[in-house]
Formats: sequence, C-alpha cells, structure tokens
Amino acid sequence: MTAGLLGIEGLGRPEIEAILERSRYFQSPGRYDTLRHRLIVNLFFEASTRTRTSFEIAAKRLGADTVSITASSSSVSKGESLVDTLNTLVAMKPQAIVMRHSASGAPHFLARHLSTPIVNAGDGTHEHPTQALLDALTIFDRRGSLENLRVAIIGDIAHSRVARSNVHLLSRFGASIVLCGPPALLPRELEQLAPGVELTNDMNEAIRDADVVMMLRVQLERQHEVPMAAGEYFRFYGLRLEHMALAKPDAIVMHPGPINRGRELSSEVADSQRSVILNQVENGIAVRMAVLEKVVA
Ligand code: NCD
Repeated sequence: MTAGLLGIEGLGRPEIEAILERSRYFQSPGRYDTLRHRLIVNLFFEASTRTRTSFEIAAKRLGADTVSITASSSSVSKGESLVDTLNTLVAMKPQAIVMRHSASGAPHFLARHLSTPIVNAGDGTHEHPTQALLDALTIFDRRGSLENLRVAIIGDIAHSRVARSNVHLLSRFGASIVLCGPPALLPRELEQLAPGVELTNDMNEAIRDADVVMMLRVQLERQHEVPMAAGEYFRFYGLRLEHMALAKPDAIVMHPGPINRGRELSSEVADSQRSVILNQVENGIAVRMAVLEKVVA
C-alpha cells in the first residue's frame, strides 16, 4: 500500500505535529512550486464546496496541475464500478488522488489495490482527516497550544466523519472531549473512540467550561428516520450567544460548514467575534498544501 492520508486514526502525534508545522509555514501567502509538473486528481462523489475548492487551490499554490471530477460528470453515472474508474484515472499517471465518497472505507479499500497515494477528503461517516488537521491549526492559532483542551462537539455525532477525526486528533493531545446531541444521533459506543471522551444529551453540560465549541451540521442526506424539524432541533441543540456564557471567557465557536443558520446555530453566534468558521476555511488551504506535499513529494 502506498502512503497517502486515509485517516487520523493511523497517525501518531509526531506526524500530526509535523503536518501542522508545515501548514504554519504555508499560512504565509505565496507560491511555493514544490509540486511543479505533478498531477493531482480530485475525485468527488459527494457534494462539496469548500473541501474540493480548497484542495484545488492548495495544489495550484504548490505549482501542481489539477483535474477535478464530480460524480455527476463521471462515468460512475454510466454504471462503471469504483475500481474501474480509479484504474482508469491511475492509467493517466497522477501523483495523488484526492477522493470523497459516501461509503465509509472506500478510500481504504482502493488504497489496498492501487499504487497511487490516496488522500481521503471524507468517507461516509468514518473520517475526514484534513478537516481535523485544519481545525487543529485554527485552535492552535487562537490558543497557541493544543494541550489539555476541553472541547464540546455538538450535533449529529452519529453521522459525522468530522467528529470522529477530531476525536482521534485532539485526544492525542490530552483533550477532554464531550460529544453532545439528541439520543438518536449520539451512539453510546462512541465513548470508546478514545480516552477522555464523554457523552451527554444536555447542551449546557457540554458547553460548561469548554475552550472550544464545535458545532456540526445535521447530515440529512445520511438519515433514514424522519429528522427533527429545524425549529425543534434549534430549540434543544442550536447554539445561541447565551450558551457561550457557560464556556471559558475566550472560548471559540467552530463549524466545518456548510452552516445552517437557525438549525444548528444562530446567526448572532455565526457572525460573532467568537466564531472562527472562516478562519477554518482559510486554514484549509495551508493544511492541504502540507498534506499534498507530504503525500506527493
Ligand atoms: C463536512 C463534511 O463534508 O464532512 N463538510 C466539510 O467538509 N467542510 C461536514 C458537513 O458536510 O456537514
């Protein structure tokens, strides 16, 4: 198996720190050209705005050539199997394939069969490693450290690859992590994901003394049951400014996007000084530059 980046679970703390250090270097704007004449293919089988654009910009800033393919425009819609699609792309000799897929484990399966490194841009409900890395970089920017944080992750935990990758990453740095959501979206077994993980259905309890409040979108596309109406969800699990009085005075609000105002958070919070949502987007480019460089160079 060729080294790509499939998840945070397989990474040790030194590897994470090395990626974050290189990302900090790439936070200074400019062109770096360390991947000139290299080809990176972005293959997205699920909707994406920020992740796909961010990978594309990252590749371009490194001087690489990029091609982006989305599901509706690919031959998968003509019945081709995933393995055949990937083999076709590999025959064009890219140096890396960035891939998002609705099936958990899809990139891991393909990585066992292909010689081209694969970067996981989100697989089902499993992992989204570059999101956790850009979240870590954003936390580091604000606090100067990732050590011993209290982090509340609130929302549709059951379907969130962002939550899983963040739990793996932050627990490497001794974080105590509270996962919070309605019972139907908070599977008990997630407590075993890493040491220092607690579960609660009570939002006030989750936010009390938190350094970081990370809100998640309700993943309607992955839910089979009738979901709670937006207004009802917001009443119990929507973040409002008054909640933030329970957190640490300098606590930050994060969200991987896309945000749904009036469902998982109020506009007041989204647009407040505490929100680092657009800093997360900005840091996504630097982190993806570091990851692509590591995987390809
Ligand atoms: C997340 C994803 O796709 O997992 N979005 C993202 O990559 N920024 C979260 C989401 O879609 O809610």
